[in-house]
Amino acid sequence: MITRLVIFGGTGDLSGRYLLPGLAALRAAGRLSDDFRIVCADRKNRDDTEFESWVETQLDRHAGDIPVDARAAVTTATRFRRADISDPDSVAAVVSGDSPVAVYLALPPALFPTAVQTLDQVGLPPGSKIVLEKPFGVDLVSAVELNRLLADLVPEEAVFRVDHFLAMTTVQNLLGSRLSNRVLEPIWNSAHIARIEIIWEETLTLEGRAGYYDHVGALEDMVQNHLLQLLCLIAMEPPITLSERDLRDRKVDVLRSLRPLTDAEIPRRTRRARYSAGTIGDRRVRSYTDEDGVNPRHRTETFAEIELTLDNWRWSGTEFVLRSGKALGTDRKEVAVHFRPVPDLPFGTAQPNILRFGLDPETLTLALNAIGGSAEQLVPLTMSAQIQPPDLPAYGRLVLDVLSGNPALSIRADEAEEAWRVVDPVISAWSRDVVPLDEYPAGSPGPGRNSSEPGAPDGGRPRTT
Ligand code: BG6
Repeated sequence: MITRLVIFGGTGDLSGRYLLPGLAALRAAGRLSDDFRIVCADRKNRDDTEFESWVETQLDRHAGDIPVDARAAVTTATRFRRADISDPDSVAAVVSGDSPVAVYLALPPALFPTAVQTLDQVGLPPGSKIVLEKPFGVDLVSAVELNRLLADLVPEEAVFRVDHFLAMTTVQNLLGSRLSNRVLEPIWNSAHIARIEIIWEETLTLEGRAGYYDHVGALEDMVQNHLLQLLCLIAMEPPITLSERDLRDRKVDVLRSLRPLTDAEIPRRTRRARYSAGTIGDRRVRSYTDEDGVNPRHRTETFAEIELTLDNWRWSGTEFVLRSGKALGTDRKEVAVHFRPVPDLPFGTAQPNILRFGLDPETLTLALNAIGGSAEQLVPLTMSAQIQPPDLPAYGRLVLDVLSGNPALSIRADEAEEAWRVVDPVISAWSRDVVPLDEYPAGSPGPGRNSSEPGAPDGGRPRTT
């Protein structure tokens, strides 16, 4: 188990909001040894006292439910060091040593190639790991190039291209529920399932992240990585084991069988939009283009939807809808599996069954039909269960996997490339304005959906196919 973690970009939002709290959770669970050390490295110098109080504030704010002694232990184990990722001497000063180190690039993705090249120049102690956040590159070509640079630095098993959704127990349960229930797997195919919606709709707005978000937008921030990963877990063939090879081979099969959209299909099967001023609950929200740091000329979307199909025996004929948006009226984070209607019904009218995996909070809901008041009248019946919250937050699990050297939940090189193959044509068409950039008021159900149908299973959106 590695006992040294160096976070480049260590005083940024990701570090304060997710990584340090994740480490505090690991410490509280007894998963970090006493000699574990954390270095937060950044270009701008920080005074030690000011840095310590920043760490305390972040832990108070984002890990308030974790015992004080675990938070204090993480604060004590954490040091600030000035280092510029393009300067080999300053990087060597923080990563060199006799023991392996886990290097976390909590940096803007545009800096990844430079960072990897500098680390390669400096050299890492044997057994070290490197962690990169999404998006991995900006397209297929840049992802291939970044993979090449990484392959020069460390072996593939030491590269952790993380997607924190995969470390969420709610997400792992997509596969867990499928594989552990006799009633699900036999009907898990296009003969029984008409459509699967993979939805991550948030009431959250930009939250001061323009420096990052305004360069990526909803498609690259959510769909290209998190939502495609959810699709993989939903659509993959049962893996032989949960080892990194079996799991990742089966995910790559799914990505390879996704049919890229053609230029003719893109206007019908994709949608993009950004939010204008509005109200979410009792919160007034400025229009996206008026947010600090946003450049309206980027035409960044805050809402993205794509409809995909898979060319394989199990799924040919099922439609997959991937949708994510910010500043919406309600949080809706779920995978909704819409079954086909029954082949014949001798009485009444039955609604097609829907199985919903709620991802945050975790719920499982099944919409069935039952006999109602009179003998031949059907009424909807919903069975719902709330599932226990997880013991470790996603970033705690993710860091633990890195330190213990288990890459099963990280994205393999070929997987990262395949995901771009599917999304690249959409990015290209959108950049040519083949699809209009719609607007929706903050706090509304989203573009093309009417407010009387918030969170409607079908989105109230006219189908395009
Ligand atoms: C991040 C995205 O990866 O995931 C954010 O960059 C998004 O835009 C977030 O809000 C959602 O995940 P979580 O775990 O923070 O709810």
